[in-house]
Amino acid sequence: MKKLVLASNNPGKLREFAQLLAPLDFEVRPQADFDIPEAEEPHRTFVENALVKARHAARLSGLPALADDSGLCVEALGGAPGVYSARYGGEPKSDERNNAKLLAELAGQKNRRAHYVCVLVLMRHADDPQPIVVEGEWHGEILNAPRGTGGFGYDPLFFVPEFGCSSAELPADQKNAISHRGKALQLLIARLRPAT
Ligand code: IMP
Repeated sequence: MKKLVLASNNPGKLREFAQLLAPLDFEVRPQADFDIPEAEEPHRTFVENALVKARHAARLSGLPALADDSGLCVEALGGAPGVYSARYGGEPKSDERNNAKLLAELAGQKNRRAHYVCVLVLMRHADDPQPIVVEGEWHGEILNAPRGTGGFGYDPLFFVPEFGCSSAELPADQKNAISHRGKALQLLIARLRPAT
């Protein structure tokens, strides 16, 4: 199996990437396995942060690196929490506080439209001048109260109209098939497959 270092230690993401990349013969290892500390994410866009994270992990591991930068963009909040999704409720990062803050910011708001974004960057090595960059989106609405126990992050508040439930109520394989990360990964896989 080909080793790929994932520039994240988030167990939810690791599980999803490992499941989705196993059929392509990739063994996805978290950067913690190589004692790589989390990179700074100083930028205002998903793509800039993903590039920085992938380069950092490739440089320190000597392996190809995959970075994901993702988050939730809420229309009525001008795209917030966006790149600040992980720490929206303050430090240390907490899904519970993030969700509570999101509900408070949207109190009384009729427009609940939101979408998840996932940018994936695959760098073959730290000086790769042409990394693969793909982006997926998943559209839904923010609920008034949490529902479900699956997934992670904002999933209990993210209503998926096609299924009439929250993304925390979807089985993992169903979420993977339609999520922002799943869509971005399908695009990445298409780019990795040799042309036939
Ligand atoms: P990142 O690790 O910098 O990409 O931050 C992503 C943050 O966005 C996570 O900590 C979650 O708060 C949120 N997020 C991204 N993808 C998902 C998802 O699939 N479900 C729920 N929350 C997500």
